[in-house]
Amino acid sequence: ASVVGLNLSNIQGDILIGMKKNKELFYFFGIAKPTTFKKKLKSDILPLITTTTQLLNVSAQPTTALNIAFSHTGLLVLGIKDPLGDTAFAGGQAADNGTLGDPGTKNWVPQFVGTSIHGVILLASDSVDNINTQLYNVQAALGSSIKELYTLQAAARPGSEQGHEHFGFLDGISNPAVQGFQSPLPGQAVVSTGEIIVGENGDSVTRPSWAKGGSFLVFRQLKQLVPEFNKFLTDNPIRAHGLTAQQGSDLLGARMVGRWKSVRSSEFSGTPLSDLITQQGAPVFLAPLIDDPALGANPTRNNNFTYAGPGQTVASSTDQTKCPFSAHIRKTRPRADLGLPESQSSDHHIVRGGIPYGPEVTSGEASSHKTSTERGLAFVAYQSNIENGFQFLQRLWADNPRFVHGNVGFDPIIGANKGASRVVNGLDPTNSSRPITLTTDFVVSRGGEYFFSPSLSAIAHTLSV
Ligand code: HEM
Repeated sequence: ASVVGLNLSNIQGDILIGMKKNKELFYFFGIAKPTTFKKKLKSDILPLITTTTQLLNVSAQPTTALNIAFSHTGLLVLGIKDPLGDTAFAGGQAADNGTLGDPGTKNWVPQFVGTSIHGVILLASDSVDNINTQLYNVQAALGSSIKELYTLQAAARPGSEQGHEHFGFLDGISNPAVQGFQSPLPGQAVVSTGEIIVGENGDSVTRPSWAKGGSFLVFRQLKQLVPEFNKFLTDNPIRAHGLTAQQGSDLLGARMVGRWKSVRSSEFSGTPLSDLITQQGAPVFLAPLIDDPALGANPTRNNNFTYAGPGQTVASSTDQTKCPFSAHIRKTRPRADLGLPESQSSDHHIVRGGIPYGPEVTSGEASSHKTSTERGLAFVAYQSNIENGFQFLQRLWADNPRFVHGNVGFDPIIGANKGASRVVNGLDPTNSSRPITLTTDFVVSRGGEYFFSPSLSAIAHTLSV
């Protein structure tokens, strides 16, 4: 199984297509006994790793999919000293706490502060029981060679909210098509294999040969303040074109994201996540006033826009009536704001594979407008270069009020200002120069780590010897 030089049975499955199961466990560990760990990695863990080939063939999919990735300090403990050519990875995520918009590490999960996490095992299945069975096998094999440091159990939301993140928007759906591997749907970004996979066409960094076929995994635990977010929408409905208060609040939320919630009707409820791959929230650029779930469900239309007018290769630098410049999906993928074709105007793409964690909002939380139990997004992004990928999107775009044009403000969803208030422009289509000041961060970073998800041959011949 290989396409244009990609050896798919050597590439871990989560990277290019995602394990896409309803439950996923992130198991963060430290390596206590490197020699035993290496032996068991090769004899017991390697055979459990789910490859891209396996995920592509439904009948070959295991009950519980497993992937493994290592931090920089994890590789050092295993005796791997060759630099991988990625400064962010080498420094670890905790060193970046001041430059990703987080107010230091005060909100971080304590285990993410420092560099003691050596690796993460990702386990995905239809049930937590299946995951626990496989986790038992992993722990039995590795024994005291590893130490559990932290775990996060994530799960798709129930019923018709399945596939939606906790604010209620369909998420984790639109990813770039990797050239030669996936044929792009209309409007989907096409990226060279080397933008996601290390050592492939388009990755120009010098790296050890064993790194080929791997990818950098950025993990972030992003807490979402859902009742607070909903209160903000209720308090600030957009009053335009005869919209009711509810419609005006929905429009404000949609303009913050750039897509509508497009909640699916009950006929879709229970559809496996893997079958939802082509569905999206309808883009506000194409449905500027009212949600259009049929548009969201149509894979040939739901991504087919550039923010530019018909026949234009650059988007207007002033018109925000259809979609604010600050909208989350516009900040993180500016399309024709940077000019077209996108393959030449931007090499800042990531493949996202996140999944929600935490319970549904309780009625008590909803009525008090206050979060009492943590919930959020277990954010996962793959790229061949963290500085060009996740870091670029977070730092230079989402957290930068001057991107994409002077004074458009922060990304209202993930743009961070070290805990200080954030000004967002363009949210009100009736007066796009009206600034809205957000005094609450609706997304609070609880930190994370940078990992390298190696090829299976690297695990067999380099990491375990
Ligand atoms: C798209 C939500 C964090 C980058 C989206 C979409 C939603 C969403 C609803 C639209 C659906 C889709 O395209 O799949 C969230 C929430 C977050 C979060 C609630 C935090 C809790 C992040 C972070 C980044 C990011 C940290 C990167 C720094 C992207 C990108 C897209 C996207 C690149 C696709 C844009 C496009 O292709 O047009 N996100 N996201 N997101 N998000 Fe996020």
